[in-house]
Amino acid sequence: MQASIHAVVLPVAGLGTRFLPATKAIPKEMLPVLDKPLIQLAVEEAHKAGIKHVVLVTSASKRAIEDHFDVNFELESTLEQRHKFAMLEAVRSTLPAGMTLSVVRQPKALGLGHAVLCAQPIIGNQPFAVMLPDDLIDDVDGGCLADMVTLYNQQQAFSLAVEDVPRDKTDKYGVVSLDAAGKIVAMVEKPKPDVAPSTLAVVGRYILPGDIFDALTAVKPGAGGEIQLTDGIASLLASHHFRPHRFKGVRYDCGSKLGYLQANVALGLRDAEVGQGFQAWLSDINK
Ligand code: G1P
Repeated sequence: MQASIHAVVLPVAGLGTRFLPATKAIPKEMLPVLDKPLIQLAVEEAHKAGIKHVVLVTSASKRAIEDHFDVNFELESTLEQRHKFAMLEAVRSTLPAGMTLSVVRQPKALGLGHAVLCAQPIIGNQPFAVMLPDDLIDDVDGGCLADMVTLYNQQQAFSLAVEDVPRDKTDKYGVVSLDAAGKIVAMVEKPKPDVAPSTLAVVGRYILPGDIFDALTAVKPGAGGEIQLTDGIASLLASHHFRPHRFKGVRYDCGSKLGYLQANVALGLRDAEVGQGFQAWLSDINK
């Protein structure tokens, strides 16, 4: 039996230009949905999946992300002196108990595939997960990644989270096509709608074999002149079995303003503290 999935790679080196000027001095992954930054929601989903090791692929302007998961001695001792124990716990548990964090730099923005390749010295040749924190998957039952890890642990199946998108949006995603048995047989990065092999788009959750690193070392720059994770996966499809994972729950594209607002509304409506008041206010302004 092969190893289980112990590590997740979170590529967070991107500039976040779609949210400027908000992201001029803070990383886009630190934008909050309600009271937790996107990066923390991703780490919590990984924790639910039983993953112990978080590997951030980061860049010089992203130190706030590392700080978020580190001890903040001054803040913690102040909260302790003031007996603000619930807040203290919230501050201390940004990195869930039992998880460790490693950080590696992506020196140049050469693409998502290149970012994942930067994690090779830490991951080695083990199967691992990749999560893109922009894609918030809201699944009250558990978590998208937990289901994918379970599938791997039970059947050694590599998988990619997928959902159907409108045909005019295929050029924003990696798009897969399946054979009659449901196995992924092709994958293309950001195809134009008229040449897209299907409308089944990959969203930001992957369970990948360690062999992806050799594949990424070999691929040439693809869409947008970047080293694409999609092209690395595509080159493994003949030798490895990848399954599409049609996840439960709703995915919000928090890399876009609309998706980010929708995520805040969805989680806000469910929030124990503000949910009821928010619901009442929303019904009021919609009259
Ligand atoms: C990346 C991947 C793409 C995937 C998408 C999901 O694109 O390259 O294959 O479908 O994430 O969000 P990006 O959104 O970084 O352009």
